[in-house]
Amino acid sequence: MEQYVIKGGSPLYGEVVIGGAKNAALAILAAAIMTDETVTIDNLPNVRDINVLLHAIEEIGAHVERVNPHKVKINGSFIQDVIVDNEFIRKIRASYYLIGALLGKYKRAEVALPGGCDIGSRPIDLHMKGFRAMGATVDISHGLFKVSAEQLKGTHIYLDKVSVGATINIMMAAAMAEGKTVIENAAKEPHVVDVANFLNSMGANIRGAGTDVIRIVGVEKLHKTEYSIIPDQIEAGTFMFAVAATGGDVLVKNVIPKHLEATTAKLIEVGCQVEEFDDAVRVVSNGKLQHTQVTTLPYPGFPTDMQPQMAVLLGIASGTSTVTESIFENRFKYVDELTRMGAEIKVESNIAIITGVPKYTGARVNAPDLRAGAALVIAGLAADGITVVDDIYYVERGYEALEEKLTSLGAKIEKVDNEKDLQKFVLKVS
Ligand code: UD1
Repeated sequence: MEQYVIKGGSPLYGEVVIGGAKNAALAILAAAIMTDETVTIDNLPNVRDINVLLHAIEEIGAHVERVNPHKVKINGSFIQDVIVDNEFIRKIRASYYLIGALLGKYKRAEVALPGGCDIGSRPIDLHMKGFRAMGATVDISHGLFKVSAEQLKGTHIYLDKVSVGATINIMMAAAMAEGKTVIENAAKEPHVVDVANFLNSMGANIRGAGTDVIRIVGVEKLHKTEYSIIPDQIEAGTFMFAVAATGGDVLVKNVIPKHLEATTAKLIEVGCQVEEFDDAVRVVSNGKLQHTQVTTLPYPGFPTDMQPQMAVLLGIASGTSTVTESIFENRFKYVDELTRMGAEIKVESNIAIITGVPKYTGARVNAPDLRAGAALVIAGLAADGITVVDDIYYVERGYEALEEKLTSLGAKIEKVDNEKDLQKFVLKVS
């Protein structure tokens, strides 16, 4: 089993280039099969979740040509099957995007129910509500989400809760439904906008993405396109927080600063300097952080996917901070691990009360999920001594070459898969 082994205490300096947004890419890859023409997608992150989805797309018959690790050509004209089920697809949350894509194009889909990170119960009732409102029959049996429609019809859908997944899924199906669909209380995340832009570049008619009302006029056919995915705001935020925790001065390149506003605001509150450029942000930190309060909210609020990384910062900030998680109810599973590194955190319901300690101490910890795993890496980078992060399978679902990028900034981190290599690293850095 692979692990990260980290010797903490090195400040980060230099430049890092951020990859394409995983969560945008997952939806865009699914949407790419909605045309029978060849779609070229660039700035693809080369991470595990993406590779699993591409494999599933290939399994149902689509042609997938990986031009290079960050570029793929997809042709959906060869699809013979609308049933998507294998042990891998069940592990990724975004498998559900194939439901909207296949339903839109073929009016039928059977997709294994989504898995993904265990960060709380992750219902799909809003997706079902949307598809039903468009006239589809929805049924869940034998672990499959089955949906079919004689005719998919545009309609008004109000989402009772802001959901990224439901917004995108309904938008995809509606892109090829008959007539006009209006999604109210839609998610406004940058990747919702990116998926809408992608579909529009294929000939869809979607307006209002990025606001809370999205209007979609269905079209009969979609056509080929070439598209480049937006930068990953969570990968960017993770590096920005790593600099804040270790101290240093890093230029984070290939980002859209606007997408990082909530993250940037919190960094400034805790005492870092952030300078914005057209497509980069520079973070300067002396490693001395101040306490603050943060609540996760749908975009443009503070992203839940940055919550564990934020808690790690506040764990070594002066004074008492609070982190309120308002999106997922089980997103504090990393707290026990962080406690083993010396953190003082008490969780009451959906609020973590954090009393800052001067330093973390290196320990052996488990990554409980993707973002929490990245947060533990940050803790390790800032800690005294050696930290070993186990179960990095989760981290690799969403971060490409994390250890390489951190090493290029001066961090002492290596990926190892046996005790001998681990000890070798420890000797090397001691
Ligand atoms: C996506 C992201 C995930 C991020 C989350 C919130 C992907 C692959 N994943 O997840 O990284 O943390 O957005 O920004 O893009 N809900 C319902 N019913 C539904 C759907 C959702 O009640 O049918 C609830 C969820 O339990 C949660 C909230 O709505 O409390 C938001 O979930 P949602 O935005 O749908 O998250 P995902 O799309 O699963």
